[in-house]
Amino acid sequence: MQQEVLSKQLDLSALLHDVSNSFKGASLIVNQLIDGAYGYSLEEIRPFLIALRDTNDRGMSLVEANRVSQEAKPVTVAQFDMLSFLQTTYSLFKPIAQYHSLNLHYETQSSYKHGTQVQGDSISIDRMLCNLVTNAIKYTLAGDIFLRLLNQEDDLAIEIEDTGCGIAAEQLSNIFIPLWRAPNSNLLHQSGMGLGLYIALCVAHAHGLKISVNSVAKQGTKFTIIFPYKDDGIYGLDGRMLPKSQRLQDALSI
Ligand SMILES: Nc1ncnc2c1ncn2[C@@H]1O[C@H](COP(=O)(O)OP(=O)(O)OP(=O)(O)O)[C@@H](O)[C@H]1O
Ligand SMILES: [Mg+2]
Repeated sequence: MQQEVLSKQLDLSALLHDVSNSFKGASLIVNQLIDGAYGYSLEEIRPFLIALRDTNDRGMSLVEANRVSQEAKPVTVAQFDMLSFLQTTYSLFKPIAQYHSLNLHYETQSSYKHGTQVQGDSISIDRMLCNLVTNAIKYTLAGDIFLRLLNQEDDLAIEIEDTGCGIAAEQLSNIFIPLWRAPNSNLLHQSGMGLGLYIALCVAHAHGLKISVNSVAKQGTKFTIIFPYKDDGIYGLDGRMLPKSQRLQDALSI
């Protein structure tokens, strides 16, 4: 019973965490527009207005998805194109990275062995990716961030790599623990709750995706998410999420 209450609290904290990050991103883009960082004509600022609208929509769809799950409706597992999905993620985060004087790059292959269609709950997958890209921006003082979509043999892999502070080898095993933060996180003047990676892990686990990390202190970090290839020509889920009982935690409204 106590476990259930704790799990619900974590669920709510995780939702508030992601909704507030969306709105923080939106307000950052608005401030850049007000400062004229991208120019003043409609043509110049249109891509950033689109990023602003999409960031705002992301916050709203999280709230909506939570309302739907409160009403105990099933989660929507659908097929979508990861190549264009990541293009949107890139467009949303490009101005935020630029605000922090970082270069965000989106690297793709010219062709993919089995195409780029994946199956999953796009709102949750978006939460996972946004948390990883947000971290890459947060923990990199200067340099580049790479978002990549690649084939790894038959599977589809997303990489999020940064040239930031890295994570000490002895701390790597802690990073997915809810509320854990590396001792140097505050030294970098970065606030946080220690929930982003836990959210990412929950989404990966619920979808049966493999998430792994490579990091070298003071050099950078790379997270890799593998969407396994399925015989029907689509990557990812077989058509349904893991039942709640088999999930890591009921930490997400998925
Ligand atoms: N890309 C990264 N580079 C270096 N350290 C990282 C990176 N991503 C995560 N970490 C470390 O792992 C810890 C946990 O990350 P997590 O995203 O869960 O929490 P947070 O970023 O501290 O806070 P929150 O995401 O809740 O705002 C971070 O505090 C940081 O120490
Ligand atoms: Mg984080």
